[in-house]
Amino acid sequence: MKLLHIIATPREDESRTLRVTDAFFEGLEKSDPECKVDTLDVTKVKLPALTVQAVNGKYVLLGGKDLSDDLKPAWEDIIKHIERFLSADGYVISAPMWNFSIPYYLKHYIDIILQPRYLFRYTETGPEGLVKNKKMAVITSRGGDYSPESPSHAYDFQEPYIKAVFGLAGIIDITFINAQPMDALGMDVQKEKIKSSQEIARKLGEKFFLDKSSK
Ligand SMILES: Cc1cc2nc3c(=O)[nH]c(=O)nc-3n(C[C@H](O)[C@H](O)[C@H](O)COP(=O)(O)O)c2cc1C
Repeated sequence: MKLLHIIATPREDESRTLRVTDAFFEGLEKSDPECKVDTLDVTKVKLPALTVQAVNGKYVLLGGKDLSDDLKPAWEDIIKHIERFLSADGYVISAPMWNFSIPYYLKHYIDIILQPRYLFRYTETGPEGLVKNKKMAVITSRGGDYSPESPSHAYDFQEPYIKAVFGLAGIIDITFINAQPMDALGMDVQKEKIKSSQEIARKLGEKFFLDKSSK
């Protein structure tokens, strides 16, 4: 099994999101020590720009045609990222909430990979996701509390957005672990919420690939 870990916080050792994610990988290592982890830090790599050439290519593919030779150079790195994404059996995204949604680094990555013919296609009955039977875990942390019981719940555009974009690609088995609040109620609450999120993350890691590897 191969897992693609997409990191979307630039904070490295300071990151609360990554502290929770570490527990997921401890659990995974325990149950599936052979699992290969491909780490892609979208805050550190230079993602291809969506130039006019790259965007034109998207419309060509949407129209059901092949890329012409003049558009291919702009798509070389885009296709490499799409192939790397598709080569994984499952996904972990580590992303803090930024301005009620995802950090722009992750949005850029999604704009690169979520391409017609590769991740989805249009049919007469609507869009069809082409990434079938793959699981995703999304680990987030937030300064405030956006849980369903909180008055700020309606401002959580992060979880519904991630569900919508990867749902378009066909990834519907998505589990969220949201560590919150990290900043609003002080250090004691932060520590307690990181700890409880780590426990959930460790358990999720332990069973993440179990149903697949037993087949
Ligand atoms: C640019 C930026 C925007 C943020 N926007 C929000 C926000 O809209 N809501 C919120 O609750 N916290 C917000 N935060 C706080 C972070 O979500 C929070 O501190 C999180 O734990 C940081 O994760 P990290 O330590 O993994 O980087 C923001 C932080 C930054 C740097």
